[in-house]
Amino acid sequence: MRRSSFRLVAAAAAIALAVTGCSSSSDEAANEDTEFEIFTWWASGGEAAGLQGMIDVYSAENPNTEFINAAVAGGAGVNAKAVLQSRLDANEPPDSFQAHAGMELDGYVRGGQLEDLTSLYASEGWDKIFPSDLIKTLTVDGKIYSVPVNIHRANVLWWNPATATKAGVTKAPETLDEFFADLEKFKKAGVTGLALAGKGDWAIAHLLDWMLLASMGADKFEGLYNGSTSWTGPEVAAGLKNFQKALSYGNKGAGNLDWPDAGKLVTSGKAGFFIMGDWASAQWQSDGLKLGTDYTFAAAPGTVGTYQWLSDSFTLPVGAPHRNAAIAWLKVCGSQAGQDAFNPKKGSISARTDADLSKYDDYLKSASADWSKDRLVGSTVHGVMGNNALMAKYNAAVGKYFSGGSKDNAGLAKDLAAAYEAGKA
Ligand code: GAL
Repeated sequence: MRRSSFRLVAAAAAIALAVTGCSSSSDEAANEDTEFEIFTWWASGGEAAGLQGMIDVYSAENPNTEFINAAVAGGAGVNAKAVLQSRLDANEPPDSFQAHAGMELDGYVRGGQLEDLTSLYASEGWDKIFPSDLIKTLTVDGKIYSVPVNIHRANVLWWNPATATKAGVTKAPETLDEFFADLEKFKKAGVTGLALAGKGDWAIAHLLDWMLLASMGADKFEGLYNGSTSWTGPEVAAGLKNFQKALSYGNKGAGNLDWPDAGKLVTSGKAGFFIMGDWASAQWQSDGLKLGTDYTFAAAPGTVGTYQWLSDSFTLPVGAPHRNAAIAWLKVCGSQAGQDAFNPKKGSISARTDADLSKYDDYLKSASADWSKDRLVGSTVHGVMGNNALMAKYNAAVGKYFSGGSKDNAGLAKDLAAAYEAGKA
């Protein structure tokens, strides 16, 4: 586990924001705090660049507050969440931390770790500007507990046009049959079909999450989380067979790679396809690569018309040492300026309904169009469908399967069923 922490002193030339006339109890005090610490896992190129966009807006509005960015590296927060939990258990919370909308957030709320932000929603007008279905995933027992900064899409297929041409792949595969046929084409051309990242287990679990959705469809998939589809039944068994087959086209040595390393296999022409959330695009752009030339995208096969979503949000922990600075941060998080500074660099669309799309690239414009018309299904591995207990067991189950040579499908189904049960406890 690597902890990287750095400090930024707010830009001196910035203009202070006058906070006046606020009516609700939670946001009435001006920010006179001299420091503010946030906790995230955004340490990779695209993630850090996105966060910096929002930090710049905050620092301009809060020039006297030192910004402390406590980021713990490791995709999907697999390392960060453990560090965060130990801080929360020791009553040493940061001033704000990252949490996914949905069941992950629900877990923190039920643990009594977050303040209610409902009055901030009213005073900032967010109850009218965020989609109501999204607000529902931030609400527990009628109270809203976090501020969403984005919408990411999990089910995206990425590839390198030059490698595809070399292998005779002329269009994006829309079905699983087409996907497997294309993997064969890459194989025949001497290219690894699928880029895999095994470090921390979550990216292989992310692949499984998509494959289950692609194999059984959105209704049955949602049934896995309301008890109407069995984890040990025929739908999951069929999905695991497809998963096993897809893994057989993966790169060797995947166990040591996190998602940015696996992504590089695709952009450097060593692998054909990559199934990854749209933070991959931001990562590549931060490396200087060009969308459309160096890499391109489509909805992941078998899930065209379905948007598997997740949302990063920021919270106000109970006992935050710099509460006013945190409220000032949450205001930036929810604002149009903050979101439009953050998302184009983070590779996500705004959670607000009034984003300035001229600031977003062609991928994000298309994601925004899909978000408003597609069937929406939550991500498991990024907190919508499962809380931290479920995710930890789900990732571990997939890690055990993958490192064991991807053989024991029945054992994996049982372990996934146990992960689901752990989420209910
Ligand atoms: C997700 C998170 C994204 C991105 C990704 C890879 O869980 O929501 O913002 O950071 O992990 O680390």
